[in-house]
Amino acid sequence: MRQLKPNIHAVGAIDWDARLFDRLIPLPDGTSYNSYLVRGNEKVALLDTVDPAMTEVLLENLVRLGINKIDYVVAHHAEQDHSGSLPDVLSIYPDAKVVTNPKCKGMLIDLLDIEEDKFITVEDGQRLSLGDKTLQFIYTPWVHWPETMGTYLKEDKILFSCDFFGSHLASSSLSVDDEAVVYESAKRYYAEIMMPFRSQINNNLAKLEDLDIEIIAPSHGPVHDKPKFIIDAYKDWISDTVKNEVVVAYVSMHGSTAKMVSYFVEALIERGITVRQFELSTVDIGKLAMALVDAATVVIGSPTVLIGPHPHAAYAAFLANALRPKTKFATVIGSYGWGSKMVEQLTSMLTNLKAEILEPVLAKGDPKESDFAALEKLADEILAKHKEIGITN
Ligand code: FEO
Repeated sequence: MRQLKPNIHAVGAIDWDARLFDRLIPLPDGTSYNSYLVRGNEKVALLDTVDPAMTEVLLENLVRLGINKIDYVVAHHAEQDHSGSLPDVLSIYPDAKVVTNPKCKGMLIDLLDIEEDKFITVEDGQRLSLGDKTLQFIYTPWVHWPETMGTYLKEDKILFSCDFFGSHLASSSLSVDDEAVVYESAKRYYAEIMMPFRSQINNNLAKLEDLDIEIIAPSHGPVHDKPKFIIDAYKDWISDTVKNEVVVAYVSMHGSTAKMVSYFVEALIERGITVRQFELSTVDIGKLAMALVDAATVVIGSPTVLIGPHPHAAYAAFLANALRPKTKFATVIGSYGWGSKMVEQLTSMLTNLKAEILEPVLAKGDPKESDFAALEKLADEILAKHKEIGITN
């Protein structure tokens, strides 16, 4: 339990040991489920709860603060890592009402079976007085679910933003103490869940422009006491600008594709292009997702397995397609033994990317001189394409 400002406490849980979120997303640095208690001179509000596995931590923090009555529990987002403790909180504080928007209310009823009469619904921009503190609700949909909202605490100039501006990072510091570390965690989180919704996030950022924000308090990771740092990072990530970078995500069974990747990556580096290479059987998909945020070009390397791509390559293509990065160019390199539909299958999985598909390079068996020449040509073409869109130095 830590204090942000007088009568505003962080009462959530630090999950140091979490290593996988949603059975999908690696959490190399753990995470936190932030919940904030705001005490006005008339009413008390709890903003978000915590993951159900950490309910006891939240309840103990409330006991330590001597909280006997909660008037409102603001639910910014129905996903269970923030709402999962709601049933327990409502059972211990039976007078509390759940304050949320109509869409989130429906989801909370579906997910947690909360009774209809427990809710107070609020519109975008609506205010709720706690006496000497005023909560203003701001809808911020699609960061990454459709119902998410934030709360602006007017008197203290704090924006409670839920997943928006959050980072999966367990830290004993209440606020950001190392911007480089938080940047990495926040970018990873953006890449993994928010990247598909760039345009909606742009709208949400615009909505915040008129607010005087001193602190952004997300529901994962440290509090931003220099909000410009994270707002500027988001502006960069959601911009249409790509960088002179190529992501090469590959898997190889017997070495042919690996030889091609090694040659090709060197050819790109010689041309002054930044390369981010990932081996797909061991990859941290969070790192791959982060690289996709900025790269102008994505190249998938795969051998042929049963006529199609290696399943790890198919998984990478599926993931990239789901994350919808702003990639401008894409292609496939790899190998086959006797026949292959790998290129057609992989490119048909990348339709969300809106990327121009460049000429692929496939070697029959071990790559030969002609294959290496084709890789040189592909590297030339990528450089030319990057020049065309004005991103080379
Ligand atoms: Fe942190 Fe979308 O929940």
